[in-house]
Amino acid sequence: MARVALVTGGTRGIGAAISKALKAAGYKVAATYGGNDAAAQKFKEETGIPVYKWDVASFEACAAGVKQVEADIGPIDVLVNNAGITRDTAFHKMTLQQWNEVINTNLGSLFNMTRQVIEGMRARKFGRIVNISSINGQKGQFGQVNYSAAKAGDIGFTKALALENAKGGITVNVIAPGYINTEMVQAVPKDVLEKNVIPQIPVNRLGEPEEIARAVVFLAADDAGFITGSTLTVNGGQYHV
Ligand SMILES: NC(=O)c1ccc[n+]([C@@H]2O[C@H](COP(=O)([O-])OP(=O)(O)OC[C@H]3O[C@@H](n4cnc5c(N)ncnc54)[C@H](OP(=O)(O)O)[C@@H]3O)[C@@H](O)[C@H]2O)c1
Repeated sequence: MARVALVTGGTRGIGAAISKALKAAGYKVAATYGGNDAAAQKFKEETGIPVYKWDVASFEACAAGVKQVEADIGPIDVLVNNAGITRDTAFHKMTLQQWNEVINTNLGSLFNMTRQVIEGMRARKFGRIVNISSINGQKGQFGQVNYSAAKAGDIGFTKALALENAKGGITVNVIAPGYINTEMVQAVPKDVLEKNVIPQIPVNRLGEPEEIARAVVFLAADDAGFITGSTLTVNGGQYHV
């Protein structure tokens, strides 16, 4: 029986590449998204992967959404917590709303989503949870106090949950991507990318979404059971912890 994988934010950017790579590796995949219906519809038509719309920042929406996916496809074996947003601004100008949106979407979502699937994984004695953090959660970034705090939180969440579930056949790992060629990074002005970002990357280019997807497929595999609580940096050599 094919394993079931759910990818949050799985219709665009890094998440879309993850959804496609998991499907190609033989998983039954469900991809969620937050609001961009047109992108989700296009993704569904191109890939045949079913899409589901709900806000990962809402615990109740995650409970209802996961229930629906499990009814449609089956119990979730692999959860990829990928959905994320930025609301960049210097901390002394940051509003409570900018703080809350980023914390709730990028960190709260790990609780909201993982809490729905962990009991089933424990009962079935198998699970793979892969969280998508960021290089900026490891090193900090100007204008991203909210995002860096949330993404650093994703790493702590991963380490603690891995300990609690290590004996139960469940692994919990986190990937910290560097700068990846998606709409999130394309929103950075081109001259800033060329002058300030790419020169900081030893490999001398942005990463591609497929290069993160490859790492997810590796961690999700049945035979990756000895890797847990790990932070995998995929950043072109930009930062070493
Ligand atoms: N791009 C990078 O360089 C980079 C680097 C390090 C880490 N990351 C992390 O990698 C992940 C993916 O980034 P990306 O660049 O692929 O982003 P993206 O292209 O902006 O795509 C984000 C995805 O997340 C979904 N999403 C956002 N907020 C949501 C919410 N509240 N509820 C449900 N879904 C929501 C979006 O849905 P809609 O399509 O409906 O908006 C979309 O599918 C994020 O966690 C990001 O922080 C990215």
